[in-house]
Amino acid sequence: MPQQNNNPFSLTGRTALVTGATSGIGRAIALRLAGAGARVAINHLPQQAEAAMDLVAEIAAAGGKAAQFAADVTRSPDVRGMVAVVEQTLGPIDILVNNAGVILEKPFLELSESDWDRVLNVDLRAVFLCCHAVLPGMVARQFGSIINIASDLGYLGRELYAPYCTAKAGVMGLTRSLAKEFAPAIRVNAIAPGPVETAMLSTEAMSPEWIAKEKDIPADRFADPDEIGLTALFLASNASRFYYGQTLGPNGGSVMP
Ligand SMILES: NC(=O)c1ccc[n+]([C@@H]2O[C@H](COP(=O)([O-])OP(=O)(O)OC[C@H]3O[C@@H](n4cnc5c(N)ncnc54)[C@H](O)[C@@H]3O)[C@@H](O)[C@H]2O)c1
Repeated sequence: MPQQNNNPFSLTGRTALVTGATSGIGRAIALRLAGAGARVAINHLPQQAEAAMDLVAEIAAAGGKAAQFAADVTRSPDVRGMVAVVEQTLGPIDILVNNAGVILEKPFLELSESDWDRVLNVDLRAVFLCCHAVLPGMVARQFGSIINIASDLGYLGRELYAPYCTAKAGVMGLTRSLAKEFAPAIRVNAIAPGPVETAMLSTEAMSPEWIAKEKDIPADRFADPDEIGLTALFLASNASRFYYGQTLGPNGGSVMP
């Protein structure tokens, strides 16, 4: 079992894998986990090698430790290969953050089967694949924390976003199932952010009307990615040791369960 000190937020001696970590929320999470002392595996698509290198350098410059690992998390051989190399390079994975995601805005009746599969593959199947690859080691060591990034849209539903909302609701269900199956040694929780200032919330991915509507929440602003990073740090650390199967909502009040 990794060393513990008196700071319940310390991740000293732990290894974390963050998927889709070169931008937005994943990047903010990687920085927070590294800042708390974890060795961080930065997963990225092959075409993001440069951004990954920059992030690894930024973490090293701040006195932390990170390394980059290219893998498309929708592909089982890539995921299994990545997990093996991370464990050889940085050590057994104690913390897995399933963050990689894509969004698609399209009327339901215009969705093709491949549209549906693309979103469900990244936003839900990849979570299954990464959990499936990392959990055997966590079970053997009887230690681990898994954090799945869902979305407030998984609760709310939204016209034009059926595959995304479906996948994110699925992530919350998967989180609860795994939390029950692997407790008490391994904790599985989720985060369902509200709108966050990232590339996903830009006109490349969404129409201006929808982006404007996203701000119609009590906080009257988008989150900074670091606000999700802080929630992930809490769930990764011993500070959240009594949290099992929960979906935390840094959402500016968009959902009040
Ligand atoms: N931005 C928001 O408002 C918001 C709100 C709620 C939830 N989320 C969720 O947060 C997570 C991060 O999104 P973000 O807002 O930072 O957007 P982002 O586009 O900056 O990050 C998504 C990352 O996932 C990576 N990725 C996509 N497909 C991949 C694959 N097959 N293999 C490996 N990496 C892959 C992308 O390259 C990118 O780096 C996503 O799961 C998203 O659904 C975002």
